[in-house]
Amino acid sequence: MEYSTDLLTHGVYVVTARQEGKTAGLAVAWATQVSSEELLICVGSKSATRPLIEQSASFGLSVLRADQLDMARTFGWHHSDEVNKFAGIAFHTRQSGAPLLNDCVAVFDCRVEKTVELEGGQKLFLARILDGEVFEPEAERLIYRAEDY
Ligand SMILES: Cc1cc2nc3c(=O)[nH]c(=O)nc-3n(C[C@H](O)[C@H](O)[C@H](O)COP(=O)(O)O)c2cc1C
Repeated sequence: MEYSTDLLTHGVYVVTARQEGKTAGLAVAWATQVSSEELLICVGSKSATRPLIEQSASFGLSVLRADQLDMARTFGWHHSDEVNKFAGIAFHTRQSGAPLLNDCVAVFDCRVEKTVELEGGQKLFLARILDGEVFEPEAERLIYRAEDY
């Protein structure tokens, strides 16, 4: 049987960035902690959010609740240069200036420390957590299932 990376378990997050008044965000399942102070995300070359992460050298990561599938679809199905994904969504900023969702399990404000370009065009962003907050420690988190998207 062929391998399937769909069998790996991922959470679903909203990764956001802001640079020179432009705000963008995408849904991300390729994200993990690599220490208690560092996170790693992987963003594809077609992402409209990616240039803002690169230019600002920072991003926000918001942890979605299990009942926030609609939010994952909004951020995961459209490009930020075509749709204002933040319409009607409350957010705040911290040190980096990246928008962080108010309504979610928890947020991380991150500064990019290293990047690695992959052969397929994706880019890894290794980032230090500058700040963050837990809003709903008991809430069930959204887990990625391919059939939801
Ligand atoms: C649940 C889910 C998880 C996703 N995970 C990633 C990911 O880890 N990295 C990535 O580059 N794109 C991922 N995507 C695709 C982007 O969210 C999608 O291409 C989005 O439209 C990009 O938005 P942007 O162009 O505004 O940055 C995911 C999409 C969904 C629905």
